[in-house]
Amino acid sequence: MARKDLIVGNWKMNSNHLEAIQMVQKLHYRLDPDDYDRVDVGVAPPFTSLRSVQTVIEADHMRIQLAAQNTHFEEKGAYTGEVAPSMLAKLSVDYVIVGHSERRQIFDETDDWVNRKAKAVFAHEMTPIVCVGESLEEREEGIAFDRVGSQVQLSLAGLSAEQIGAIVVAYEPIWAIGTGRTADPADAQEMIGFIRDRLRDQWGEAADETRILYGGSVNPGNIGAIMAKKDIDGGLVGGASLDPDTFAAVVRYWI
Ligand code: 13P
Repeated sequence: MARKDLIVGNWKMNSNHLEAIQMVQKLHYRLDPDDYDRVDVGVAPPFTSLRSVQTVIEADHMRIQLAAQNTHFEEKGAYTGEVAPSMLAKLSVDYVIVGHSERRQIFDETDDWVNRKAKAVFAHEMTPIVCVGESLEEREEGIAFDRVGSQVQLSLAGLSAEQIGAIVVAYEPIWAIGTGRTADPADAQEMIGFIRDRLRDQWGEAADETRILYGGSVNPGNIGAIMAKKDIDGGLVGGASLDPDTFAAVVRYWI
């Protein structure tokens, strides 16, 4: 089965709920039905904007999909400041990003936590976007493939073949995030092909269904070359997703 492209804007800690409403409305005006037929388009606003964006998407029958940037893995309880997967599911969230490198680095999230989060997201019938990627030091030391291979194995441990077919993996080399320094498309393909091979080793042909995205300084000028690579099924876009014109140009990468 052909994998449908997926391009998700990760807004990170940007936009209050009023700004978020405007951003999603502007994006919607810039996209045509044909675009959605070709690409699944998602936005990941901060938690405080999810409800507002959900309401606008539903009221205007937009085909934009909704993503959250994080979740806790527990169902409920004394976890001050955390948000449970059931709360996100209730907001009709489609995807939940787990294990973003900013969470791994700044908030010390481990592969074990990422794994528990991915399972919790599936338990609530949403789709995890599991992020992996090596640091600059790891790339320079020549251990990028070991690092990413280990993240893939540990973060996805215990998932079923059906879940591997449904999951989204995002390869985001840390040195390319927010730096303007994009991975060479051939290098991104090499790592993403490697990730798919690792999935195939463990889960067989389900790996051919897994959508694997590239993230790291994606913009309208480089997305076309990235998307031309056979194993790359889309993008996780940070800075370039904050401006609806720019993000729409990324989504319509073939134009
Ligand atoms: P930039 O596109 O700003 O480099 O961010 C990438 C990213 O981290 C998306 O999750």
